[in-house]
Order: sequence, then structure tokens, then C-alpha cells
Amino acid sequence: MTAEATGPALSVSAHRAGRAAAGDHDLSAFPDLARRLDLAVLRAVAAGVGAAAGPGPWTADEVADAFGAAERHRWIPGHWIAALADEGMVTAEGSAFRLAAPPRRRDLAAVRRDLDRARAGLGFPPALTAFLLRTLRELPRLLRDEVSAQSLLFPGGDTAVAEAVYRDNPFSRYLNAAAADTVRHLRAAGPDGLRVLELGAGIGATSADLLPALDGRTAEYRFTDLSPFFLDLARGRFPHPFLRFEVLDFATGLPETTGPFDLVVAANTAHNAPHVPRLLGQVADLLAPDGRLLLIETCREPHQSLTSMPFLLSGRAARQDLRAGTERTYLTRREWREALHGAGLRVLVDLPHPTEPLDALSQRLLLAAR
Ligand SMILES: C[S@@+](CC[C@H](N)C(=O)[O-])C[C@H]1O[C@@H](n2cnc3c(N)ncnc32)[C@H](O)[C@@H]1O
Repeated sequence: MTAEATGPALSVSAHRAGRAAAGDHDLSAFPDLARRLDLAVLRAVAAGVGAAAGPGPWTADEVADAFGAAERHRWIPGHWIAALADEGMVTAEGSAFRLAAPPRRRDLAAVRRDLDRARAGLGFPPALTAFLLRTLRELPRLLRDEVSAQSLLFPGGDTAVAEAVYRDNPFSRYLNAAAADTVRHLRAAGPDGLRVLELGAGIGATSADLLPALDGRTAEYRFTDLSPFFLDLARGRFPHPFLRFEVLDFATGLPETTGPFDLVVAANTAHNAPHVPRLLGQVADLLAPDGRLLLIETCREPHQSLTSMPFLLSGRAARQDLRAGTERTYLTRREWREALHGAGLRVLVDLPHPTEPLDALSQRLLLAAR
């Protein structure tokens, strides 16, 4: 067993691997393009609200009524109005709101074009535009619970949209390759027969990069998710003999008897825990003395997910941590770091660096050690 690289050396190496995987895509325009994508989606949401409820003034409840929103989704128009107010797209009139500039038909065509240009500039496949436009068209039926966000995200079981969002774009390539690089270091320095637990592994967008990096030294990789759908998918996709597939809902706690693990992975999923600090504490308890937690997490609330994420969250257990009583889905970068620290975990890698253009896309890779 060789000594593992220090935190700064791990970061430099992971960043290099990430940049190499992102290819020669021009990243300098990412902050501007990410902003344009966000604003295009928000303008289209404003148009959807205007089409259902008129230009206003209306309260969030009145917008929910105008859409005929199902009980569990009634909170979502209020969530949208908060985002619209933040961006000056609605103005307050007492406790009600009015669209600042009711959208015209020709503006909407321009919004759709802008959305697609920003998507292309960020290197996402066209499937992302198709998905966003579909969710925007379906806003009334989504709100009435006549169609589910899951069925739009995985139409007929197809994972192309999820692949576009979590794998098939320069930023995800950066994150997944940087994650794999940190794991390669762990594999080189760690014990023989590594034991790995992945939470909320889903379509395996990150696992697909981690598994080859772990091959040869890994005794067991527990690929877990809330949903058996993803486990079936992964069984067909990943041939590695050390994989075990299990249904595991981390919202209800982690089984203490299964540890210790040399690596716990949670990519784009830990925010689903009703109490993030509690989850991180449970993960810390499951780690071997030299174990690592690898997180990929969103650290801002991007407007571009306003037409899907709220619908996926409706009906889930209420947030009991610092997000309690708010409509926030994610923790900020500082809050993630504090929560890791509070769980007795030391942050070794935190990428991309906040001055990098890639930082504009709100997701980060965090590697922490016991
Ligand atoms: C955005 S996807 C990310 C998937 C995956 N990590 C990847 O990179 O492809 C979130 C995943 O978390 C899973 N999930 C959500 N809440 C969960 C929970 N409480 N316990 C386990 N998995 C959960 C979902 O089923 C979904 O597969």
C-alpha cells in the first residue's frame, strides 16, 4: 500500500483529469450560457403562468387554482413566483404578483431559440432541449398530476435525457472524470479488497466512470437506489463481478451492519435526504478509518430545473434540516462543507474552483475523509 496523495495534490490531479475529459469545448462562455439557459426556462415558465392565470395580479394559490393543480403540487406555483420575483419578472402588488411583461407569441419563439442555443453552447445533446420544451408544454398536465415528471424524464424507460443531463456533456464529463481520478488514487493507496457503497446510483452516470477505475482492487461495490427500475437497468449495463445490486432508501437511514466501507459515493442524490447532516453522520459511521465520501452535489437552485425537479420532489418527506420551512432543494457550497465538517469529515477535494468558468453550472465534486 502506497501513501495517498495529499488533498491539494488530489485536487490538482482531479481537475486535470476533468479538464482533459471535458475536451476542447470552449468553457469560457459557460457562465453566460448557463445564465441564458436559466433565464430562457424562467421566461417560458412566466409565459406558462400567464397563459393559465392571465397577467395578474394573482397570488400563488390563485395560480394553483387556475392550473387546477393537484393537492401535492399546489406549492409549485409559489416556488416559481419566488424565482420570477428574484429575477424581476413579476412585480409585487400587496400579497399578489403581476407579470412584469406579459409574454407575446413572438417572444416565446425567441425564448425557445435562445434556450436551444445556450444548450448547444454548453455542449448538452439536443435531447435536453426536447425534454425542456416538453416539460414546458406539459406544465398544466404536470401540475394536475395527469403526467409525471418521471415519465417525461424516462419516456418508455429510455434514459437518453438523464444521460444528457448527468453524463453526455462537457461539465458532467469533467465531474465524472475528476471523481474517477480521486478514486484511482484511493485504489492505488488503499487496502486490497476495497468495499464501496453507492447511494442513489440511478442510471449509473458516475458509476460508469468509477467502476473501471476500481477494477482489480475492489471486493464489493454495492450499487443501491430507491427504485428497482435503476437496479434492473444497471444489471444489464455493468458486467463487473464485484457489483451487488440492492434497493436502499437512505431517507430512512443506512443499515449499520453493512460497513465499514472504504468509499461511499452519492452523486446528485444526497440532497434527497430529509436531513442532510444526519445522512452524512450515518455515512461517516459506516466509513473505514481511512474511508472516503465522494459527493457530487448541486449548490445553487438553477431555474433550468424548475419544470422538472419540483415535480420529482412533491410528496417526498419534508426537509427537516436547514431547508425546513423553505422551498429549497439544495444546500449551498458553504452549507455542504459545514455539514461534512459537522459529521467529522475533512474536505480533501472541492471542485471546480469557484473562479473557474465551470463553477457557473452549480454542481460540485466534494471528496471528504474521516
Ligand atoms: C438525479 S438521480 C442521480 C443518479 C446517479 N447518481 C447518477 O449519477 O446517474 C437521483 C437518484 O437518486 C435516487 N434517490 C432519490 N431519493 C433516494 C433515497 N431516499 N434513497 C435512495 N435513492 C434515492 C433516485 O431514484 C435517482 O436514481
